Amino acid sequence: MTLNILILAAGQGTRMKSGLPKMLHMLSGKPLLQHVIEVGQSLHPHKIWLVYGHEGEKLKQAFENYPVEWIEQKEQLGTAHAVMQVLPHLKNPQEKVLILYGDMPLISPKTLKDLIEKTSHADLGLLTAVFNEPKGFGRILRDKDNKVIKIVEEKDADENQKKIKEINPGVYFTNVAHLQEWLPQISTKNAQQEYYLTDIVNEKINIADVPVENPHEVYGVNDLEQLHQLECYHQQKIAKNLRLSGVMIGKQVVFEGNIDIAPGTKIGSYCVLKNVKIAKNVEIRSHSVIEDSVIEANCTVGPFARIRPETHLCEKARVGNFVEIKKSRIGKGSKIPHLSYVGDTLMGEHVNFGAGAIICNYDGANKHQTVIENNVFIGSASQLVAPVKIEEGAFIGTGSTITKDAPAHKLTIARARQTTIQRWNRPKKQEK
Ligand code: UD1
Ligand code: MG
Repeated sequence: MTLNILILAAGQGTRMKSGLPKMLHMLSGKPLLQHVIEVGQSLHPHKIWLVYGHEGEKLKQAFENYPVEWIEQKEQLGTAHAVMQVLPHLKNPQEKVLILYGDMPLISPKTLKDLIEKTSHADLGLLTAVFNEPKGFGRILRDKDNKVIKIVEEKDADENQKKIKEINPGVYFTNVAHLQEWLPQISTKNAQQEYYLTDIVNEKINIADVPVENPHEVYGVNDLEQLHQLECYHQQKIAKNLRLSGVMIGKQVVFEGNIDIAPGTKIGSYCVLKNVKIAKNVEIRSHSVIEDSVIEANCTVGPFARIRPETHLCEKARVGNFVEIKKSRIGKGSKIPHLSYVGDTLMGEHVNFGAGAIICNYDGANKHQTVIENNVFIGSASQLVAPVKIEEGAFIGTGSTITKDAPAHKLTIARARQTTIQRWNRPKKQEK
C-alpha cells in the first residue's frame, strides 16, 4: 500500500485570538502541528503533504527540518479546498490517502492504524467519537440502518441535529481516485460559504466508520480554553503512567518533551520537567524547573532549583534551594546547597560549593569554562571568574573573588583584610 498523509494546517485559527498561528501553540512543550507530524511519521508513509497558508513562513521556519512536502493554500476557502491543493501532486489513482487536521495533537498511531486496517475495503473510512459536549464539532447523521449518511457542521445544524453527541473528528481514509471524483462536486452552499471536506460524506458512497475509544485523542483545538483542557488531560495521563511505573509525583507537575524517570524517584509538587532523564531514588523537591538534563541516582534537587540545559548531575549530588545550574557537570557527591549560580563548569567529586557562591562565566562577550577538581571547598559568597581552575582539594576562603587558578590543597583567599579602627567615634545626630 502506498500511503499519503495529508495534514491540513492552513487555517488562520481566528478563534485562538492570540496572534500566534494556531499550529504553533504548544501542548506539552511541543507545537500542536509537531504532535500530528510525528504521529504521521510513525506510520511510515510514502509522503506527508502539509497544507499551509496563514503565516506560512513562520510554520515553514518552525518545521524546516521535517521531511514533509509543503503545499501552499493561498486563500483559506475551507477544508475541501485545502485537500484540492494537494490533489494535482497525487498522480496514481490507486494510492491511499489519510487526511488529518493539524489541530488534533493527541491522535495516536494505534487509532490511525485501526482506521486503515478496518476500512480499506470501503470507499471512505471515518473515525467517529461521542462527546458529552459536542458544541462546535460537525455532527454525524446516520440512517435507520445506522449507516453514516452525512456530516452537518454546527453552524448549519438545526436544533435537533445540535443534540447529537456523535461528532466528526476529521480523520478520513480513502484513495486518490475517489478524491478526484468527489472534490470537484463540493460547493460553498453553507453557513460559512466554505468548501467543506465533510461534504464528501453522503449516502451514495460506501462508508466504514471506526468509533474512537478515547475521545481526547480526537479533540480538535480551536480556542485557548480547549487547548488548556487538552493540556490538563495530557498532563494527568503522563503523571498517571509514571505513578503506575513507580515514580512518586506530587500535585500539578508539568511534563514536556521526552520524560524518562526511573521508579523510586520522587517529584515534588509544582515542578516543571522538560526533556529529562532522571535515575532511581532521586528526590526533586517542589517548585524546581529542570530542562534538557540528566540526573543520576540518589541526587536531591530543590526546592526552587533551576537546572538549565546540558546539565549532568552525577550520583548523590545535592542541589539546594535557589540554585541555578547551566551547561555543567556536577561530580558524584558534590553539594551546591543554597543560592548559587553555576554555569559552564566541570565540577569534580565531593566538592562543597558554599552558600551564595557564583561562577562568573560571562565576560560580556564570551562564555568561559571553570574547572573545579575533586574535594574542593568553595567558601560562601565567593566568585570564580572564568576561565579559572581550582585544583584538587583547594580551599577558597569565604567572600573571595578568584581570578587566577588556585593551587591544590592550599587555602586561597582573595579579599580585603579585616581591620578594626581603634579610635573611632560613632557619628552623632546634628542639632538643627
Ligand atoms: C472541522 C470539521 C468538523 C470537525 C472538526 C474536528 C470541516 C468542514 N469541519 O471543523 O466537522 O468536527 O474539524 O476538529 O472540515 N484548514 C485548512 N484550510 C482551510 C480551512 C481549514 O488547511 O481553508 C485546516 C485548519 O488549519 C485545521 C483544519 O483544517 O487544522 C480544520 O479546520 P478548522 O477551521 O479547525 O475546522 P473546524 O471548524 O474545527
Ligand atoms: Mg478545528
